[in-house]
Amino acid sequence: PLRVAILISGSGSNMVRLVESMTGDHPARPVLVLSNVPGAGGLAKAEAAGVPTAVVDHRAHADRAAFEAALQAALEPARPDLICLAGFMRVLTGGFVARWEGRMLNIHPSLLPKFRGLDTHARALEAGETRHGCTVHEVTPDLDAGPILGQAEVPVRPDDTPETLAARVQAAEHRLYPAVLRRVAEGERRPLHLG
Ligand code: GAR
Repeated sequence: PLRVAILISGSGSNMVRLVESMTGDHPARPVLVLSNVPGAGGLAKAEAAGVPTAVVDHRAHADRAAFEAALQAALEPARPDLICLAGFMRVLTGGFVARWEGRMLNIHPSLLPKFRGLDTHARALEAGETRHGCTVHEVTPDLDAGPILGQAEVPVRPDDTPETLAARVQAAEHRLYPAVLRRVAEGERRPLHLG
């Protein structure tokens, strides 16, 4: 099967959905969950699911180059074919991204190309959007700008706060990411659209 490493920084709810999806006749299997944050909530969840874990703390490295060298060194023994960024909150440089060109996916909490970067839910509310959602895309050197592999839309409600909107988008993420991972593992890169 295709070997998948998942990179996280936080609670890892998307990671859990990806791991849970890779069973039975699925063409991929999780081989590593790696966090740049020691003690990230997702690490214990990965361990509970029986997936090997690793920590590469960005604060323990002098600069991005040293951090990314350590990241690469931690990934290599797991021999991943594909990397899924799932709430991984470090920007990766062109050098690292180039090594994994076409083999690294990210989930972003907006309907790209709208709202690249951070604070997407507050920005969508400020902009008066009536539809919002999430995107899975290939990682390229330009932040949140790689080829789109799938999107899921949710409505924005008049009384939404960034928190209520984030919860609705997260539920959509949990449907979208496993669906896109499966398609990519099967060689399908045309974008998936979920309502
Ligand atoms: C997700 O909503 C994901 O889209 C977002 O972080 C959250 C992680 O949640 N990613 C980004 O903002 C990337 N810049 P999780 O740890 O529960 O999966």
